[in-house]
Amino acid sequence: MSTDAAAVDIVRRYDDRSWGDDGPTRGVEGVVEAGQVLAFPNLPFALADGERRFLDPRWADVKAKNVSVRWPSGELRGAVGAADDLQALRAMIVRFAEHSEALALRLFPHYRGQLRRGNTSFRPTDVAGRVRSWRQDDTRLHVDAFPSNPMQGTRLLRVFSNVNPNGEPRRWRVGEPFEAHAARYRGSLGRPLPGSAWLMAAVGITKRRRTDYDHAMLQLHDHAKADAEFQRTSPQARVDFSPGTTWICFSDQVLHAAMGGQHMMEQTFLIDFEHLLHPEMSPLRTLERLLQRPLR
Ligand SMILES: [Fe+2]
Repeated sequence: MSTDAAAVDIVRRYDDRSWGDDGPTRGVEGVVEAGQVLAFPNLPFALADGERRFLDPRWADVKAKNVSVRWPSGELRGAVGAADDLQALRAMIVRFAEHSEALALRLFPHYRGQLRRGNTSFRPTDVAGRVRSWRQDDTRLHVDAFPSNPMQGTRLLRVFSNVNPNGEPRRWRVGEPFEAHAARYRGSLGRPLPGSAWLMAAVGITKRRRTDYDHAMLQLHDHAKADAEFQRTSPQARVDFSPGTTWICFSDQVLHAAMGGQHMMEQTFLIDFEHLLHPEMSPLRTLERLLQRPLR
């Protein structure tokens, strides 16, 4: 793993070599909640010999971005293949979910009982090959926010692991701290149209009500991606995550861009901001302070 010497230094490295309870690092809620990326360069997600064949984009449905297991159902989505192959592929992804959960609960014991398992995904396709609209272009720095899936203050904690077999790193850029980012666009974070949140939920555009917080987060996401000057000149650093590296961050807080790489595992966890060790450091509370109004 290598990082440019730059204004942004938010990657903290740990030497853990075990996913389970015997690893050394624990009680680092304050680090991840401060908007840092926890990186474990010696914590590979090991594939069994029979699983290496899955490192091939042919297992991914061309219409789907990635192969995933949904929870709580445990259903496999986005994969194509024979039934016994898909069963083995699912088992590999489920194992990553279990490893990630054990790691997260050791690192963040304060979250025990509050951490909910979101999707587990396997991304065998090359980042560079995707053609997208600017809004969906994840090679531009952004915080995660989704038009159809309002989080209402629930946090997105993500565990990533590079399983590339050819030595190819997962290449990211990371950007300025969330508070500085929100302050940059504070003047253009308008309020939603009256009634629009109710209407979008009623007709199924959103899965639940888009709160003022979600509205602000979507605007931050869109303003940043649409702002070429910001993308080019804002404080940022390149980070290469080598194969065998696992890393964790709150992706709704850390400015990030996926510049390249192929073959990655990803686990999403959800946790309500009230259950953080330091709720006042959350994007919701940060935005409320900056905008001087409640956003729930
Ligand atoms: Fe993202």
